Amino acid sequence: VRQRLDGHPIVLVGLMGAGKTTVGRRLAEKLGLTFVDADHEIEVAAGQTIPEIFAKHGEAYFRDGERKVIARLLENGAQVLATGGGAYMNADTRNAIRTHGISIWLRADFDLLMRRVRRRSNRPLLQNDDPEGVMRKLIADRYPVYAEADITVDSRDVAHTSIVNTIIKTL
Ligand code: S3P
Repeated sequence: VRQRLDGHPIVLVGLMGAGKTTVGRRLAEKLGLTFVDADHEIEVAAGQTIPEIFAKHGEAYFRDGERKVIARLLENGAQVLATGGGAYMNADTRNAIRTHGISIWLRADFDLLMRRVRRRSNRPLLQNDDPEGVMRKLIADRYPVYAEADITVDSRDVAHTSIVNTIIKTL
């Protein structure tokens, strides 16, 4: 697989709770590649957590930083890059991913996503009275765009390891 990647990064896209970070980390380990989490890199670059960036500067500011950080990370060659759920919705970022990398959409259904995000409630987009409604809207808005990824892998309620193996077989 590493040879076939030919210096291109594997980029994981999909909604909050799809398992991008966990799957990405294990996939990288198995392929002997570096794992990079774009959200974490944005926090390092800003010197603030994502909730702080949203609260102090707003979503548009976050999105701009996200676009720049991912553009920079995509220059780093073969690696596994997990992106925040909104990253692939930006046309520039989508084009950059298409040019530099191999994209994988970790597709998951509503129930699984809600179960996962309830365990970690640090997502600004879901800090409101109707997180379920927001999630349904994100699914409706984003799935048609995520579907443009090179590879779609169903992230069902199965062990992350088996998802990693499916990805490796598909690559
Ligand atoms: C977002 C997803 C988050 C983070 C930010 C916005 C989104 O990343 O980038 O809270 O728009 O879906 P995860 O998908 O890693 O939770």
